[in-house]
Amino acid sequence: MRPSGKHVLEFKHITKIYGDHKVIDAFSANLLRGEHICLMGRNGAGKTTLLKSLLANYPGLADKDFELDSGSVFWGHEAQIGYFPQDVGATIEHGLTVAEWLHRWKPDAHVEDIRGILGQMLFSGEEGDKQTKALSGGEQARLAFCKLILTKPNILIFDEPTNHLDLEAINALNIALQRYEGTVLLVTHDHDLIDEVATRLWVFHEDSIEDFQGPYAEWKGKHN
Ligand SMILES: Nc1ncnc2c1ncn2[C@@H]1O[C@H](COP(=O)(O)OP(=O)(O)OP(=O)(O)O)[C@@H](O)[C@H]1O
Ligand SMILES: [Mg+2]
Repeated sequence: MRPSGKHVLEFKHITKIYGDHKVIDAFSANLLRGEHICLMGRNGAGKTTLLKSLLANYPGLADKDFELDSGSVFWGHEAQIGYFPQDVGATIEHGLTVAEWLHRWKPDAHVEDIRGILGQMLFSGEEGDKQTKALSGGEQARLAFCKLILTKPNILIFDEPTNHLDLEAINALNIALQRYEGTVLLVTHDHDLIDEVATRLWVFHEDSIEDFQGPYAEWKGKHN
């Protein structure tokens, strides 16, 4: 992994409104390389909307139907984002095998390397020949992780990556995220994961987002 600059992201007064519902209200923050931020909040609080807002101008990852209402977002020097959207299955094109799909993200990679990465994510030889349209939810998630192992981004933006994962896979993800030296933005409802991964929290309250510069245990201590 090639590291990003120290100042990974700076955004100011991000506002997103759907109809007459202000989902994100002038939220601002700066991120430094290596921070692991977990986004916490109830369903519909605006976690996915905030991630989409941060990606609204990022080439290749912006949702074309999504526009910020106001605010500015600056990604820093050499920022390379790996995004795992909440509906990750929709990002996996049909009509290919698993190995073909993965290979497209780095055409100059050797077939053995592609197979090796698939093997790490428990796609054995034959499973690499499976059609992408036939994958289960958990298999789709594991294939999306293969892409990240292949492309080695220095920023991970994960929107509920554990939804389809079994316990063993959640534990593996937990350990991989703890060890990851890049910057992480992670949405999850799994408090164990938050406890072990987060160095900072964005907590979505009714009318505001709390930016807490510390781990979950410390935040909980203050709120109980
Ligand atoms: N395309 C859209 N059009 C209109 N309203 C939307 C749209 N997308 C999201 N919303 C609304 O914005 C609010 C925030 O949605 P968002 O998906 O960001 O929530 P979330 O915190 O990610 O929830 P969850 O935990 O269920 O994933 C919700 O009230 C949702 O209904
Ligand atoms: Mg969401």
